[in-house]
Amino acid sequence: MKAIHLFSTCLSLLAGMISVSAQPLTPRQRADRLLEKMTLEEKIGQMNQISDKSKLTGPVTERGFSSLAELVEKGMAGSLLNVTDPKAIRAYQEAALRSRLGIPLIFGLDVIHGMRTIAPIPLGEAASFDLEAIERSARWAATETAASGIHWTFAPMVDVCVDARWGRVMEGAGEDPYYGSAVARARVKGFQGDDLSAANTIMACCKHFAAYGAAVSGKDYNSVDMSRGHFYNYYMPPYKAAAEAGVATFMNAFNDFDGVPCTGNAFLLQELLRERWQYPGFVVSDWNSVGEMVPHGYAADRREAAAAAADAGCDMEMCSLCYFDHLKELVESGRVPEKKIDDAVRRILTAKFALGLFDDPMRYCDTLRMRRTVLSDEIRAAARDMAKRSVVLLKNDRRVLPLPADIRSIALVGPLCDSQTDMKGGWAGEGVVDSIVTLRRALTDRGYTVHFAEGYDPATGRERDTGAAIRAARSSDAVIVAVGERASDSGEAKSRGELNLPAGQQELVKKLVDTGKPVVVLVMGGRPLIFNGIRECAPAILFTWWLGTEAGNAMCDVIFGEYNPSGKLPMTFPAHMGQLPIYYYHKSTGRPADPAKSHTTRFIDIENDPAYPFGYGLSYTTFSVSAPRLEKAVLAPGEETRALVTVTNTGERAGEEVVQLYVRDRFASVTRPVKELRGFRKVMLAPGESRTLEFPVTKEQLGFYTNDGKFVVEPGDFDIMAGNSSDNLLRTTLTVTQQ
Ligand code: BGC
Repeated sequence: MKAIHLFSTCLSLLAGMISVSAQPLTPRQRADRLLEKMTLEEKIGQMNQISDKSKLTGPVTERGFSSLAELVEKGMAGSLLNVTDPKAIRAYQEAALRSRLGIPLIFGLDVIHGMRTIAPIPLGEAASFDLEAIERSARWAATETAASGIHWTFAPMVDVCVDARWGRVMEGAGEDPYYGSAVARARVKGFQGDDLSAANTIMACCKHFAAYGAAVSGKDYNSVDMSRGHFYNYYMPPYKAAAEAGVATFMNAFNDFDGVPCTGNAFLLQELLRERWQYPGFVVSDWNSVGEMVPHGYAADRREAAAAAADAGCDMEMCSLCYFDHLKELVESGRVPEKKIDDAVRRILTAKFALGLFDDPMRYCDTLRMRRTVLSDEIRAAARDMAKRSVVLLKNDRRVLPLPADIRSIALVGPLCDSQTDMKGGWAGEGVVDSIVTLRRALTDRGYTVHFAEGYDPATGRERDTGAAIRAARSSDAVIVAVGERASDSGEAKSRGELNLPAGQQELVKKLVDTGKPVVVLVMGGRPLIFNGIRECAPAILFTWWLGTEAGNAMCDVIFGEYNPSGKLPMTFPAHMGQLPIYYYHKSTGRPADPAKSHTTRFIDIENDPAYPFGYGLSYTTFSVSAPRLEKAVLAPGEETRALVTVTNTGERAGEEVVQLYVRDRFASVTRPVKELRGFRKVMLAPGESRTLEFPVTKEQLGFYTNDGKFVVEPGDFDIMAGNSSDNLLRTTLTVTQQ
């Protein structure tokens, strides 16, 4: 039997090769030819994605298989996820090649910020506002992933989120749709490059479609309810940008949208994705999300769930096995048209051809390449570069930072300074923990005398052995104290109702500051956190997210001034829990906020202002940013212009600044936010150096989506604003005339 399979496999591979050399067929044409040979069972087999049992990234599905390899050999799986051992990958691929048509498997994995070498968490990378660095980082992740036998990452997550209670903000690019779109493009390009079959590229997956980041009260998996207009303007753009950038796949979201679970949502999957955007790639469900249409109260049973998902255009089912159990009967009974199945399978096969899997199914299984690539010096250097760019300097009174060169001894306080697991950050399952450089190790390697003290209990945040921490501070030249949440506190299913740092951590910092020694506070976390006590008393604060394999070295680069920090916050940092959700692009309202007046849009017990606004971040030098000057201040409809903005390094060190351009449409047929990011540029300037930057002011900058999804520019006056933070802007006026 096996021999027959092998023979037919060889035949079909040969046939593929002959047809390629005779006449170069596109992946899509090759998929069409193969589809003609497939039985209904084989087609449905391609639509199943099954997880390795040893590495579950979601709740256990209804049934385990005694032998996954046997199932694969029968052609009943199109893709496996969470298989990471190269030997197992090879064995499963061999099993797939023994199936009647020898269709290779796609291996998928959540490579969210690195495979074995870990880069900063995505929200941290986003703080760099450096699209080239972000793209490079994704490419290095792809290089290590492809060398480890995996073809497909479930990234980037492009969900906009304005509520830091949602644990998954760590996986995205923050709150802004314009910036989120730019990061989405960079990540897709980084993972995929121009050729999916190249040795250093993998397929990306834009997730979670759609609006998953808008879960009510930031509670993971919760319902989403928003107007279409709001969706088009603030949540949809990054998905659209990823589709336009050619992302190979999309993933459904767990939530419902307009009351219909996203996995069975025809508006999202048919109207938007396929019809309006003409998206050619394939859609995978999220983990179990087909079956979860039952508890959603949308499908009466798993059979109905399978029908709804297949009808809506969910091409591959991750884990819940509703397709596996019911799709054949649903097609045979006429409930689901076979054309739906053909369309789905064609898209899946096209991806397999594009990956080069039919030409060389083992091309990704090269252990020699894997050994040469993984954790190479080059990749580690790139991870360190990305990490230092991700750090945000929040406060630097009396120029405590950078620490001077003559410092010899350092009191290092806080268990987070020495925790490899935390530095790795969430969603980094395959990251090599032993290779992670903690801050303690980096300081020791640099030859400092390190007096380490825990200062608080990492589990509760309560002070612990404060005396030792104070003694360490008194006997050292400077103090570095790390506070924050644990890495395992953010990520999927890690919604939090409290973002204030524990009182113990904040009091400890106060006591250390009271020693009179220079104190640098590192706040670590996967999301915006609240630390008003520390904000008040600490002279220097760096927000370091989770920086990955080279975390400690990158922190030292910044702390000692070898790298001048240049990160900016991609999310508003609230000052109080009651402010959530909070974001800079809020509307004016009919009663604009006025702290001095009652009956305006404000709280009676807390202020409206955040702790730190979107786009905020300091440097060891200072910059001035001019008001924008418009090449044309009056535009006829359809005309475009440019805004010129001069940025000057007014300090004594070379440094990078992120110059930001915001727009406000003062009056429109639909109310518009008080400001919206519409351009940014990161530039390096020597002391005293000035540069004039040009920002396009086109339809993209001035327009918005109407409630029925049309993108329009309406005549009237616009504020064009420039600066280096969303709350530090100078403005000018632009008019778009009627005719
Ligand atoms: C997550 C996805 C992830 C998938 C596979 C789900 O729980 O929502 O983002 O890609 O698991 O691990």
